[in-house]
Amino acid sequence: MKKRVLSGIQPTGSPHIGNYLGALKNWAKIQYDYDSIYCIVDLHAITIYQDPAELRGKILELAGMLLALGIDPKHSSLVVQSSVPEHAELAWMLTCVTPIGWLERMTQYKAKTEEQESISDGLLQYPVLMAADILLYQAHVVPVGDDQTQHLELARDIAQRFNSLYGETFTMPETRLPTHGARIMGLDDPDKKMSKSTTGEGHAISLLDPPDRIRKKLMRATTDSNPAVDLDTMGPGVSNLLSIYQAFTEASDDSIRNDFTGLRYGDLKKRVAEAVVAALEPMQQRYREITADSGYVAKVLAEGAERVTPAARDTVQKVKRAMGLYTP
Ligand code: TRP
Repeated sequence: MKKRVLSGIQPTGSPHIGNYLGALKNWAKIQYDYDSIYCIVDLHAITIYQDPAELRGKILELAGMLLALGIDPKHSSLVVQSSVPEHAELAWMLTCVTPIGWLERMTQYKAKTEEQESISDGLLQYPVLMAADILLYQAHVVPVGDDQTQHLELARDIAQRFNSLYGETFTMPETRLPTHGARIMGLDDPDKKMSKSTTGEGHAISLLDPPDRIRKKLMRATTDSNPAVDLDTMGPGVSNLLSIYQAFTEASDDSIRNDFTGLRYGDLKKRVAEAVVAALEPMQQRYREITADSGYVAKVLAEGAERVTPAARDTVQKVKRAMGLYTP
């Protein structure tokens, strides 16, 4: 039997090339080797206020984009988290075995509380819900970016604590990151990872940006004070542009060295822009086709939820029995 892989992405902001090269491209690649479940985690999104109409639109946009970039509903279950109520149900039961201290230590929680004026209880519970996503389906492998490794460790700790209190119930998810995607930095600030929540026109390239916008953003990207590309002394901005080029074209290190050494930055940026446009255009074309049929995305999401529901119900039933809750 194939091992189960599970991952999640929040339907906030627009997915960008950093999300694609760092995670989503890998999701599409590994779906053939695993029994894969990919979740659009709308319940995580609302831990911070979201405009309702906008959130609704973003969920469908993200689902369409995931299909366009190669998530194949024949091989993967694409699921909107809130449409399978067992995510929230299991999260409550896990909340009851999670010491508050574990949650207060989470660095992402601490960072977010510094940004927000009013902090919801949901923000503290965020990693418990993430543990529920994973443990609900007894997932073996959870591909995430390095900013999520602490949450994954917590999911393991919660599983372990539950198992020792109530008996073996959960599969221990592996914290191993299956493959390393490229870590793409902000175009305007190459010391920071490209982020959906950072605003500013020059920061990220959205997967739906038209070619002219992509070119414009890349032409304005931060470089360094060298006159031309020098792989040995380049700064983070130039290194980031080359990473983007290499991740999209899968060019070898040798060919990067040969092709780019000595190239002036204007020309470097043009070449990167053409590689990005060439990779995104077919994806955007598929996105338009997929979303032109208004019922298609909804149908895929309904099928995804239906397919994973038996496993979700099975786990919740087990947990209820283990804890002594009423199971008629
Ligand atoms: N917290 C993850 C992120 O921001 C998203 C997420 C939610 C997730 N549930 C998950 C990732 C379960 C992996 C598994 O990237």
